[in-house]
Amino acid sequence: MESNTLIIGASGQIGIELTMALRKKLGANRVVASDIRATTDPELLSGPFEVIDVLDKDTLENIVSKHNIGEVYLLAALLSATAEKNPEFAWRLNMDGLFNVLELAKAKKISKIFWPSSIAVFGPSTPRHNTPQHTVMEPTTVYGISKLAGERWCAYYHERFGVDVRSIRYPGLIGFRSDPGGGTTDYAVDIFHKAIESGSYNCFLKEDTELPMMMMEDAIRATISIMEAPADSIKERGGYNIAGCSFTPSQIASIIQRDIAAFSITYTPDFRQAIADSWPASIDDSAANADWGWKSEYDTEKLCATMLAEIRKKKANILETHS
Ligand code: SER
Repeated sequence: MESNTLIIGASGQIGIELTMALRKKLGANRVVASDIRATTDPELLSGPFEVIDVLDKDTLENIVSKHNIGEVYLLAALLSATAEKNPEFAWRLNMDGLFNVLELAKAKKISKIFWPSSIAVFGPSTPRHNTPQHTVMEPTTVYGISKLAGERWCAYYHERFGVDVRSIRYPGLIGFRSDPGGGTTDYAVDIFHKAIESGSYNCFLKEDTELPMMMMEDAIRATISIMEAPADSIKERGGYNIAGCSFTPSQIASIIQRDIAAFSITYTPDFRQAIADSWPASIDDSAANADWGWKSEYDTEKLCATMLAEIRKKKANILETHS
């Protein structure tokens, strides 16, 4: 019997989109979506859905055997900004959740794992521009510390126990279908919604804060393609750098202003500024390109145009269904 795929944290920003993409590819019934809370989202309910707390090892194991799971995408985590508010819980969730899944693979109960890392593995001592795959890594956030430790554990389980775990260091992810939850890069999603809804946005980062970003379509394609790549092409078992585009709040504000002339932006930096300042501005992803053929398809212009068009479309559809 063919094994199935489990997505843990399916209600999150990446989870919803990955569930949709994998169900389209594999068939709705072969992709089990799960989250810590029950859902009413029709996309997630278009196939099997389970409530799983990734810290609950027994339930996790039962669901894996109930659905004959072969591959696990572990997306449940606290992101950078939320993690700073609750460092102890963030560490426990981000690390123990990973251990529970790595242990399932070590015990041969599952065969392949995707685990997301982040640009947060880098810190203020890392070269900021075109940050290399291998470089100084001294993260200063609890989120970054958990991602760097997690990368090392993934590489360790691969080395010692032959666990097939694959990972990407996601930049800030920008999508129109789902909302981000608790990250430092969230402004770059909110800004498009606010521009269309109210014509103004108050940004929590300074105008010249340049960060690596990526359109969600690119991120989902990267995720599925690293998982489909032949095992021997995956040379990095910690996490791969992947690059999309880099921009500052004022750069996307000007692009938005070309479309919405009256759009105005103000800046009120908060605690997230320090997190952003500790991260790279741009990423060198030549290792991912060489090993499994990664290449981004969205530059900043295309990303902005897509966000504006798709959010408008979504709003028009909502109005239509309510009229
Ligand atoms: N987008 C994430 C965050 O801001 C980075 O991995 O936390």
